[in-house]
Amino acid sequence: MKRLDTQVGIVGAGPAGLLLGHLLHLEGIDSIIVEDRGRDHVIERVRAGVLEQATVDLLIEIGAGERLRREGMRHGGIYICFSGRHHRIDFEELTGGRSITVYGQNEVVKDLIAIRCATGRPLYFEVEDVRIADFESAPRIAFRKGGEEIAIACDFIAGCDGGHGICRSSITTQRLQTYEKLYPFGWLGILAAAPPGSRELVYSLHERGFALFSMRSPSVTRLYLQCAPDEDLTAWPADRIWDELTARLASDDGWCPNRGPILQKGITGMRSFVAEPMRCGRLFLAGDSAHIVPPTGAKGLNLAAADVWTLSRALAAWYRDGREDLLNSYSAQCLRRVWRAQRFSWWMTSMLHRAPGAGDFDYRRQLAELEYVTSSRAAMTSLAENYAGFPLQ
Ligand code: APR
Ligand code: PHB
Repeated sequence: MKRLDTQVGIVGAGPAGLLLGHLLHLEGIDSIIVEDRGRDHVIERVRAGVLEQATVDLLIEIGAGERLRREGMRHGGIYICFSGRHHRIDFEELTGGRSITVYGQNEVVKDLIAIRCATGRPLYFEVEDVRIADFESAPRIAFRKGGEEIAIACDFIAGCDGGHGICRSSITTQRLQTYEKLYPFGWLGILAAAPPGSRELVYSLHERGFALFSMRSPSVTRLYLQCAPDEDLTAWPADRIWDELTARLASDDGWCPNRGPILQKGITGMRSFVAEPMRCGRLFLAGDSAHIVPPTGAKGLNLAAADVWTLSRALAAWYRDGREDLLNSYSAQCLRRVWRAQRFSWWMTSMLHRAPGAGDFDYRRQLAELEYVTSSRAAMTSLAENYAGFPLQ
């Protein structure tokens, strides 16, 4: 068996694990990252794509923002569409200049992997059978790589292994309180080779259900439509998808999304989930391993970034000054932001989807809410400040 030592053992090379690794590197703290999938899979996996102002600022500050600055698409607001009309919410004007940036999560991951490799610090892909042990006292991570058994002894473990990882499930259920809400619908998402026909995102509530217009580049559009959680993708040939997107997103003045070849399609489930506390002994959970939000508020990646920023501050204070207070307040500090984002994501989701079984009353109430949200400055400001996101603190 091969034995390795490090200060922080990081499980998972998604945005949370990779960003934490780099934040620790900048503090002079050693880490080893282990990831059970291959590098190409991690880079190519299409996920969300909206970065809050604070996430963009952080990536730039740590030197991971070069391509983001060049290729990221800065948006000063979004459109909300209902009853055939598009209404703009101007984030910059309502929040004193904050904006969002559209840049695929897989691009963030690609940039962070390149930075990690440039530091020369270890990042193991395609490891098997990852286990963690003794995280109350002397933490260890064990795994196999190419048939060899490897054990890492570390001071702390960061569980950045997403919603289906092993870190959260290694904590006995009595030590965790979990909160969950399942939504009775999913999203059918496509990536299409079509130039985006709107400069900004369009969130739409239509009689036939929710639809979202987004983008990845000047030549690639990303679109979603509400479907059943167990929708059969084979029942959705390209024409049906485009007709449904057009019906749900088009405005009375003739706008509709540009069509093009579909490059990728998939179904995403919708779930809200929180595990508390986000720490057990010397194991700290961060990102999707601790909490899942439905994608409507575009918060998942941003919450992961805020968690690991908070954790890196706490670990730095511990290594530098022997201070434990920030490690002790890590969970509570993250959970405040997490629940605020949960509330916002739930609210956006409920306002913009048609739940099966909900009647005409609910639909009319949703339209009234949208009318209010797009006309009252107070309501627009609330949406704008939550969507553009709050500073890291
Ligand atoms: N061992 C090692 N790695 C693992 C294991 C395991 N047992 N289980 C999962 N992983 C890896 C996954 O393959 C993935 O690369 O952990 C990583 C977790 O990354 P993400 O799922 O991207 O989660 P996170 O880094 O917290 O980022 C949150 O991802 O799902 C989106 O919308 C979400 O944008 C949010 C972001
Ligand atoms: C995306 O571009 O993938 C996207 C944008 C906004 C969301 C969710 C996903 O709310």
